[in-house]
Amino acid sequence: MKPVKVGLLGLGTVGTGVVRIVEGHQEDLASQVGSPIVIEKVLVQNKNKARNIAIDQDKLTEDPWDIIRHPDIDVIVEVMGGIGLTKEYILEALALGKHVVTANKDLMALHGPEILAKAQENRCDIMYEASVAGGIPIIRTLVEGFSSDRINKIMGIVNGTTNFILTKMSQEGASYLDVLKEAQELGYAESDPTSDVEGLDAARKMTILATIGFRANVALEDVSVQGISSVTKEDILYAKRLGYEVKLLGIAERQDDLISISVQPTMVKQSHPIASVNGVFNAVYVYGEAVGETMFYGAGAGELPTATSIVSDLVAVVKNLKLGVNGMQGSLAYKEKKLKTDDQ
Ligand code: NAP
Ligand code: HSE
Repeated sequence: MKPVKVGLLGLGTVGTGVVRIVEGHQEDLASQVGSPIVIEKVLVQNKNKARNIAIDQDKLTEDPWDIIRHPDIDVIVEVMGGIGLTKEYILEALALGKHVVTANKDLMALHGPEILAKAQENRCDIMYEASVAGGIPIIRTLVEGFSSDRINKIMGIVNGTTNFILTKMSQEGASYLDVLKEAQELGYAESDPTSDVEGLDAARKMTILATIGFRANVALEDVSVQGISSVTKEDILYAKRLGYEVKLLGIAERQDDLISISVQPTMVKQSHPIASVNGVFNAVYVYGEAVGETMFYGAGAGELPTATSIVSDLVAVVKNLKLGVNGMQGSLAYKEKKLKTDDQ
């Protein structure tokens, strides 16, 4: 059986997890797709950097075009992050007929329609399950699991770093800066953690969820955003005394065709299940007209949970390759959204 060759862009927290799962679950993956999946080449910034995974040095490259233009590579997995150059690499890979799996919510929230259009034009797959809520298969659930329903509300905790910080401040009285440092060391935070703590990362994820959940063209600037950097230990302790926990909640709602989306620190009654979502865990509630309330819970960041979503996307792409069909998470036929204003 001819192996399917994968080019990996990035070998940081998530890239390392991808290598571990592809290598560690090799037989099981091959039994699902009918051929071995092999990581052929890996892009890094610095080939000489010490790594916490053993990898054949010959596989590493500092030149993205070694991978994107490699004639034998069928699928690109992008876990390097960033927007400008990364977009260029992904668009070029799609133009060359390569399928793409990415964890990049920044890119998908800002340039999703352009990337989807390029994929469709070139009959390629584009999958981005890992971009929202780490190991929870929430994108697949919205696109496939609820394709039959009309979703009216999506609400939840979609940033692991801030939930980790708020939990430790609440349960241990820890200092905001100490816990942020710990989240960075554990690989939960973005390379610039400002986007975590100022709510931008959650806003990008809510843009993606609202787009596919409401089947509408939602833009990042449609989200009203407030982060947790101004939440003090005293705010959290005071809320606790009143019977509440402080959580950074993303809420996207639709009333008829009017949409509103926000990300903000919110006092949640301790009796509500979302108040017990602690540490790096995320939880997403989806309310459908027919299905009613559903809740999805799991690790929202970190090496292996995030890599699980990436490798599941990879399996889906390879299955499509074998069947000669294409798939993408989302559609270009979504309608224009109307934003709800304060007086509506
Ligand atoms: P990371 O640990 O900082 O790793 C980034 C990797 O990409 C590194 O291996 C780095 O090379 C390489 N890289 C970065 N810029 C490059 C460039 N211009 N050229 C070549 N190589 C480059 O990041 P991460 O935490 O794995 O996150 C990667 C992506 O996944 C981001 O889009 C992030 O938002 C997303 N994500 C992360 C998590 C998480 O829990 N960490 C969860 C979901 C989604 P060197 O190793 O040589 O420095
Ligand atoms: N920095 C992100 C978080 C990574 O903490 O949720 C997962 O997307």
